[in-house]
Order: sequence, then structure tokens, then C-alpha cells
Amino acid sequence: MHLLSAPAAPHSSPSLWPPTPKRAYRAISPAAEQGAKRRRTLESESERSEPRAEDVKPRPGPSPAPAGAEATNGTTATASTKHHIPERQKALLLHAPKSRYVLEDGFAVPKIKDDNELLVRVEYIGLNPIDWKAPDFNFGIPSLPYLAGRDIVGTVVRAPTSDSRVKVGDVVLTASTDYRDPRKAAYQHYAIASSFNVARLPSSPSPATAGLGVAFVAAALALGVCLGCDFSGTGAKGAPGPNLPTVLRALDPEVIPADVRAECLSGRTDAERPKKGDWLAIWGGSSASAKMLAQLARLLGLRVIKVVDVGKHGAALSWTKHADLLVDSHDPARAVAIIRRVTGEELRFGVDTAGKETAGWLGKCLGEGGHLVGLAGLPMKEEGGVRQHVVPIKVHHECREVGEGLMVWLEGLLRGGLVTPPEAEVVHEGLGGVNGALDRMRRGEVSGRRLVVKVE
Ligand SMILES: NC(=O)c1ccc[n+]([C@@H]2O[C@H](COP(=O)([O-])OP(=O)(O)OC[C@H]3O[C@@H](n4cnc5c(N)ncnc54)[C@H](OP(=O)(O)O)[C@@H]3O)[C@@H](O)[C@H]2O)c1
Repeated sequence: MHLLSAPAAPHSSPSLWPPTPKRAYRAISPAAEQGAKRRRTLESESERSEPRAEDVKPRPGPSPAPAGAEATNGTTATASTKHHIPERQKALLLHAPKSRYVLEDGFAVPKIKDDNELLVRVEYIGLNPIDWKAPDFNFGIPSLPYLAGRDIVGTVVRAPTSDSRVKVGDVVLTASTDYRDPRKAAYQHYAIASSFNVARLPSSPSPATAGLGVAFVAAALALGVCLGCDFSGTGAKGAPGPNLPTVLRALDPEVIPADVRAECLSGRTDAERPKKGDWLAIWGGSSASAKMLAQLARLLGLRVIKVVDVGKHGAALSWTKHADLLVDSHDPARAVAIIRRVTGEELRFGVDTAGKETAGWLGKCLGEGGHLVGLAGLPMKEEGGVRQHVVPIKVHHECREVGEGLMVWLEGLLRGGLVTPPEAEVVHEGLGGVNGALDRMRRGEVSGRRLVVKVE
């Protein structure tokens, strides 16, 4: 079955799917009926503005694979279904900081460079805050014109030549943390990925899975590297999580990029690692990263406190696997006092996903010997004996063993319904809809969910 078929819950893992499909697949228009009408209009507009390449037809039906290649659905493809990969494609390019992305045709389809790499036909793109922050604040743009976009769900159309768990026809998600390599960016119809950075999905996954890749990797590295959690007791049968401190120590240190080596190898001692029953406080608890952090932490047996705007997010986050305690963020000093009281002044672990200022407040919740991870900034200096950590995101794509461990684990977590993707709103406007969707994120209109762009 193909991604473009109507979303339907997988038979094996219903909890993989957001519980209220109407909300999960909301069209931009608020009223459901209007939404469906608009979706049809947008889909036909998108077909007009971005005509499907002749070579990728027909869309419905099994994903094409070369003769003899076995797809995940167990069918064996024949020569007649072989996928023709075009030389040129459409892509969204950034030509200057503080400008908008421009949709261009005739952009070269990226080429595979090593035997670990594969080519994915991009079908859904998950939008991340970095996609609008990088051009607006002029950072994370290594060269111009720049190709952005980090989260992809699509179909593998060329497999790695090395021995790999990934085959042509597999539907995969890829968390493209390697922003320096435009070949791996999401804002194009075909993208390269390293096999160890993709997770295989059911053949007709929820579009919401396009919103979880980078958030999952950031959460897993925050817990597994910065705090040293051992994931090996978690995961689906046959796909245990990695013990990242052990994985990293087994590597030649030179393989670990120099700027993150200390964080990876000596960020804390083994004795300091979180134990079952310990508290973890997450400030900025409504973000996609926080949702992945909370789910992984609870699989580890940690107790999770989330600091959020309870008025906005309380209904969605209460009585779920996302938190043991919600604390309102409006009065940060009071939030600190509550957390210190609830944890008996013994909180040792905190992750902030909101920014430098809130990371500072979270630091005040932690006692001497505490560990504070900042995804979106940290105070200028360490205070009160609290150690600061920055997520070494690049080990996902620089260290094969780390990426592979995370992705195999993620496959099992999704298959077993052990983690749920953040709720998503699907934008049915193709690549041409990305600028408008990013504008909504800039204006702060997207709250508690991911925007996922359907590419056609
Ligand atoms: N260092 C890394 O490797 C790494 C990796 C992943 C993410 N990050 C960073 O971590 C942060 C969270 O990422 P995410 O993808 O998890 O975020 P997200 O899902 O997009 O959520 C961010 C939250 O920020 C608030 N928000 C939305 N629009 C905003 C705006 N225009 N200005 C200020 N706040 C806004 C919303 O909360 P409310 O509705 O409560 O306002 C939203 O739930 C981002 O800064 C991201 O760049 C870093």
C-alpha cells in the first residue's frame, strides 16, 4: 500500500496512531466539512502547481521495487514496477538570509556518494522550528543557495549497496540532522539518507510520523548521552534500545567529532546516571521534543514533571503517558518552588526545550550535582553546582553505531506502539505550501502539534 492512500490505523499497533484521527489529520480550514472541501481544492491546486513526475506514476498501489527486491509488505516486485528516477526535480531554495524559500524546477536529484547511502522519494515533510529560525536569525546556513528541511517520510527508491536492513520499496522516516549536506535536506522531491539514519515504517504510516524524527533523536541523545540513560531494557522484542555511553566508549574517540567528544565521553560519571523512580523535569513540555523526551523517560521508569502553559496544554497532556505532574509556566518562580517541594529538593535532571531564560529557571529547580540539558539555549554560566549539557546531535549522522542503534530501536518502538508521534496537522499544498506553514510557526500560531507537509 502506498503512503498516499487514505490514512488508516495499522492493524498491529493502534496506539501508534493519534487517538483522534480528525484532529491528527486536520486540514488547515477549521470546520471539518470545509476542511475536506478545501483539502480537495488544495490537492487539485497542488497537482496543478506541482504536477507529478511521469516517472513516479502510478502513485496508488504497492511501492515500486526493482526485480527481485522484496518490499516490507512481503511482495516481490517485478521488473515492470521498477522506479525510474528523474535527473531533475523541484526544490525549495533559500538564496539569502531573511528571505523566503523559492520553489524552483530543474534542480538536480542528489547523487549517492557512498555505499551506506540510499535515495528516498519524499512524501511527507515534518517542519521544525529551525526551518524558519535559521533564515530569520541567519544561523545554520553553511552555504547559499541553501536547501533546508530535516524530517522526511518517504519511499526508498534506491537502496544502499552495502548490506543493509533497508530495501527498495520500504517506507521510512529519516531524521536528517546533517544540515551541512543539502543532499539530505527535506525540501525536495528526492533526498539522500544514510541507511543508519532511517527507520522503516508500516507501509501506510500516519503522516504524523513525519513529525517525530529530529525530536526523537534530540530526546534520545539528551537522555542517553547527556544524562547517560541506558535504553537497553526498553524497546520492542528483538529491538532493544542502545546503551549509548557504552556504544560511544567502544568507538575510536577520533570517530566522535572533536567539539562533542567531551560531552559524549565524560559528560557525567556512570554513578550519576538516572535511576528508576528518579524525577526528570522538562520545561517547555508542549514541544515535540518534550513529548518524545517524556515518553522515553517513562519507558525508563523515570517520573516526569512538565512545565507548560496548563491552560493551553493541560487537557492534552493530563492523564497521558506524557507527564506525572504538570506545573503551570506563567509564574516561573512559583513553578520552581513547586518543583523543589514535590521532589523534596532532590531533583537532579532537567531538560529545557524552550530557551535560555527558561533553562535558567529550570536550573534553579536542580540541586548541587544536578544536570541541565538545553535544547534551545542555556544560561551563560553554570550556577549552583549544576552541570550544563548541549545535545551532541551530530553523533546521529557522524557515528554509524549511534544512528543505527537509535533507528532500529525506533522501528520497534513504533511497531509496538511504545511511543506515539506528536499530534500533526497536515498541510496539503506540496512544497509550495512550506513558506505559508513556516509563517504560521513564526507567528506562534502552531502550538502543541507539528505541521507536516504532504509532497506531491
Ligand atoms: N539542539 C538540538 O539538537 C535541537 C534538536 C531539536 C530541537 N531543538 C530546539 O528545541 C526547541 C524545541 O523544538 P521542537 O521541535 O520540539 O519545538 P516545537 O514542537 O515546534 O514546539 C515548540 C513550542 O514552542 C512554542 N512556540 C511555537 N511557536 C513559537 C514562536 N513563534 N515563538 C516562541 N515559541 C513558540 C509552542 O509552545 P506553546 O504553545 O506553549 O507556546 C510550541 O509547542 C526549538 O528551539 C528547536 O530549535 C534543538
